[in-house]
Amino acid sequence: MAAHKISELTIRRPDDWHLHLRDGAMLQAVLPETARHFDRAIVMPNLVPPVITGADARAYRARIEAALPKGAAFKPLMTLYLTEDTDPDDVAAAFADGTATAVKLYPAGATTNSASGVQDFEKVRTVLDRMAEIGMPLCVHGEVTHSDVDIFDREAVFIEKVLKPIRKKTPDLKIVMEHITTQDAVDYVRDNHRNLAATITTHHLIINRNHILVGGIRPHYYCLPVAKRERHRIALVEAAVSGDKRFFLGTDSAPHTDANKIQTCGCAGVFSATNTMSCLAEVFATAGKLKKLEAFTSLNGPLFYGLPPNSATMTLRRGAPVDYPKQIETEDGPVTVFNPGFPLHWHVDP
Ligand code: NCD
Ligand code: ZN
Repeated sequence: MAAHKISELTIRRPDDWHLHLRDGAMLQAVLPETARHFDRAIVMPNLVPPVITGADARAYRARIEAALPKGAAFKPLMTLYLTEDTDPDDVAAAFADGTATAVKLYPAGATTNSASGVQDFEKVRTVLDRMAEIGMPLCVHGEVTHSDVDIFDREAVFIEKVLKPIRKKTPDLKIVMEHITTQDAVDYVRDNHRNLAATITTHHLIINRNHILVGGIRPHYYCLPVAKRERHRIALVEAAVSGDKRFFLGTDSAPHTDANKIQTCGCAGVFSATNTMSCLAEVFATAGKLKKLEAFTSLNGPLFYGLPPNSATMTLRRGAPVDYPKQIETEDGPVTVFNPGFPLHWHVDP
């Protein structure tokens, strides 16, 4: 039977290996959207001020746990924001006692709230060496920030100028290239088998740069790294549906209020927590690869992070178009949910 004829699919519960939960009223509003479908998520540390130390991460995790809906089985996996002053002992202690799962590297100025990120990569060398020693993964926002590098080239240049040198000097460091957007990144991960993996977002499997710019500017499709040409989107889909263990889901669901998105200088970020599983089922079904969805959302990530896959399952069923909210309400104002531009037929059983 052809894969697109499948009308029901049961998979292990998924995890989100790159998620922004924010804080305060926004956290309260967006957390249930993720906890409904996902059992774990790697929580990004780019708050203001950022989550830098083990103590910061413990306090933030407590705020997340306090905001969880009653009975939710969701477990936040915390990350530490790498700065040039990060203390290797603090990082190692946070990893050892389970406070932090990974460290996040933002090149300074690369994206939302990344002002305290790294400028001189030599200054974080002792931290990276220590992480390699203890087996703690580094999640990287893979874009250079020099003003002379075109925004569409920033990921490819990062691989050459930053990632290759880091991997050469610290080959034992486990690295996740996050939210990859280019054929270049897919090829780089495919060609390098040791200690390297990549997350792919839901939206980068669906939109290319035309969606942002053709027929009027569409702020809700603007995120970083910015979506690239169609040929890159196709490469990402091929990687995601291939079952290759080095590619897994990181939604990069990144809520901003509509007021902050729609303005002269709008924020980068796509909010996709609400309908991600339906979107992904549609992408995998269209590719005739529904059977590979579980590897992408629920198996490959835990394998790389050295964690067991979730034991509970989730069933997706094909039916009439899913009626998901166009926006979710928060005390700070509405947040628009990612619109894939096509109807979603895959329902997630409650
Ligand atoms: C993220 C955010 O809003 O925090 N924005 C985005 O466009 N992805 C930051 C990030 O992951 O780059
Ligand atoms: Zn992100």
